[in-house]
Amino acid sequence: MRVIVIGAAGAVGNCAVEALSARHEVIRVGRSSGDIRADIEDVDSIRAMYREAGKVDAVVSAVGHGYFGPVHEMTSEQFMQGINHKLLPQVNLVLEGFDFINDRGSFTLTSGVLNRDPIPGGSCAAAANGALDGFVLGAAVDMPRGIRINVVSPEVLEVSRQKYEGFFPGHVHVSNEAVGLAYSKAVEGCLTGQVFIVD
Ligand SMILES: NC(=O)c1ccc[n+]([C@@H]2O[C@H](COP(=O)([O-])OP(=O)(O)OC[C@H]3O[C@@H](n4cnc5c(N)ncnc54)[C@H](OP(=O)(O)O)[C@@H]3O)[C@@H](O)[C@H]2O)c1
Repeated sequence: MRVIVIGAAGAVGNCAVEALSARHEVIRVGRSSGDIRADIEDVDSIRAMYREAGKVDAVVSAVGHGYFGPVHEMTSEQFMQGINHKLLPQVNLVLEGFDFINDRGSFTLTSGVLNRDPIPGGSCAAAANGALDGFVLGAAVDMPRGIRINVVSPEVLEVSRQKYEGFFPGHVHVSNEAVGLAYSKAVEGCLTGQVFIVD
């Protein structure tokens, strides 16, 4: 398969690359590194990325961030960070991808743990995650040509333990292998409309 991984150099994207690259041609995408440079917050950049990549069998997105802070102090602009930096770019990868994805191909997006196991200050990220989980469920029933769509929702990665130190009290940390297996299932498996929880 030809698999395009957006955010390939990141903590989560690297898990997908490690899990898939031995068996498939992986095209790595990032803003500042990779086989193709693209900013998926910019729809024109998404279109250019697909044109450069050509036809693919799978699109994997491991990108996104939101605003962290207490809900009673959050502004509408801050809340929109989760929409603009995590939800919308990943949705646009799907909306713009149909001309470039082969029959029976797949889209795999990335959400996260915060809409099922919240932390203080995590409501913006929780909303983006919940929207992504809902989007794949709703979109799966519309998908043409046998195309599948899923989302991987990991707990905090072991490799990200230091980055999030103190923010996720009591949460488990998951291995790169466990996260990679979820992307493997999404890309190489048969399910659609699923949230693959890794915890
Ligand atoms: N790490 C965790 O423990 C964890 C757990 C659950 C869910 N998640 C979710 O997984 C996703 C990725 O997180 P991460 O920890 O892997 O982040 P990360 O380590 O910061 O990596 C993000 C990667 O995505 C690329 N990227 C960011 N914005 C982009 C854009 N607009 N267009 C193209 N590429 C872009 C970055 O490349 P450049 O640096 O070149 O821009 C980087 O390679 C996020 O949605 C996060 O919420 C992470």
